[in-house]
Amino acid sequence: MRAHEAGALHAEVGHRGPAWLRTPENVNALLPQLWPRTVTRDDAGALTIGGVSVHDLASEFGTPVYVLDEADFRARCHEFAESFADADLYYAGKAFLCKAVVRMLAEEGLSLDVCSGGELAVALAAGMPPERIGLHGNNKSVDELERALDAGVGRIVLDSFQEIDRLTEIAKRKNKTPKVMIRATVGVEAHTHEYIATAHEDQKFGFSLAGGAARAAVDLVMRQGILDLRGIHSHIGSQIFDTDAFEVAARRVLGLQAAIRDAHGKELPELDLGGGFGIAYTSQDDPRSPAELADGLRRIVKEDCDALGLAVPRLSFEPGRAIVGPAMFTLYRVGTVKDVDGIRTYVSVDGGMSDNIRTALYDASYSATLAGRASAEKAILARVVGKHCEAGDVVVKDEFLPADVQPGDLLAVPGTGAYCRSMASNYNHVPRPPVVAVRDGVARVIVRRETEADLLALDVG
Ligand SMILES: Cc1ncc(COP(=O)(O)O)c(C=O)c1O
Repeated sequence: MRAHEAGALHAEVGHRGPAWLRTPENVNALLPQLWPRTVTRDDAGALTIGGVSVHDLASEFGTPVYVLDEADFRARCHEFAESFADADLYYAGKAFLCKAVVRMLAEEGLSLDVCSGGELAVALAAGMPPERIGLHGNNKSVDELERALDAGVGRIVLDSFQEIDRLTEIAKRKNKTPKVMIRATVGVEAHTHEYIATAHEDQKFGFSLAGGAARAAVDLVMRQGILDLRGIHSHIGSQIFDTDAFEVAARRVLGLQAAIRDAHGKELPELDLGGGFGIAYTSQDDPRSPAELADGLRRIVKEDCDALGLAVPRLSFEPGRAIVGPAMFTLYRVGTVKDVDGIRTYVSVDGGMSDNIRTALYDASYSATLAGRASAEKAILARVVGKHCEAGDVVVKDEFLPADVQPGDLLAVPGTGAYCRSMASNYNHVPRPPVVAVRDGVARVIVRRETEADLLALDVG
């Protein structure tokens, strides 16, 4: 369904939901792949996370609240680091970034990919070693490039000819030799939503491989000899479940690496294949483990390098969603329940598109469960909507909830760790929710709740 300016009654009608969504045998059951690993239901049927009940979280921190399972987040970092032990892992900070998360990443041995001066500031404020920071972006300002160089970031991923000129000029002026990569668009469209498939050619990111811009950018940087070119970067999209698309991308990029070797007599020592590993948002999603991904990607690169007579470059990857996405859920309180003339039941929660824009923006699917109690009632098909003045303000398009869901109930939406808080807005002047990290029975605020006073403080009259 496309969001429709004219309102909900113009939307596709139906109470059956999508064909894949089955009436659950037990509406209280938790699908393990959807939830942070420490989540269970206690004897009274309420969810607990990290040993803390959602009732305690709601009464101490209010709702809506993003709840991060710190043990789960760290375990995912660890599994990626271990599975990709012979590669560098740059957590994609755009998925979710705050100082506490940066410290956890640093402790778990990951590096960090930032794509703005703001993300760089958070990384540095939390003490991430600058050499473990990579800077991305298709339109980095001179100020951002200078700050990155002054801080001594480990690498800058170049995205345009203007940027090559800008960085070269800054590097000369500052007498520095920054490590750089060239971002190539490899013409692969990964099987995902159009707006987040970033490797097909008609888009703003990178240098086209097919059109020759990637090769021209490499030649320019090598000829000038001011920037230290480490290799090619390719990010083909997001929410990708198998390695097929990576295989095509790697083959094309390594073909370019071989052509560069033939022309310049030098092999580029590194290769970044980006992020984009998928996670489970609904029962339909079946993500690969980090170990399976690592084995597949390693094999693909090795085979291609052997065929081209290249040494296997040092690989790097940039997973964001796959690390933080499943480690968090959003806890809401239900405000109203409305049965619209047998069409469907609308369950309104106290947040919405301001804390999760992905449903409206990407037509993303989510799941939900009644979090504060179990129910013996039958399951009904519901749509979870927010409190905003917008008919497209949908959080979960279709989900089975118990028929007795009612105002005051707590509702949890899993898989909201990535691109929810980081893309949150103040639409309707709704303050953004806090992020609370829970571990071993202790809950702590890592990003505080925004207040109306915060919003008014920005409004200087
Ligand atoms: C260059 C780059 N690297 C990594 C990522 C992270 O993707 P994901 O969070 O899906 O792993 C993105 C996402 O947009 C990206 O643009």
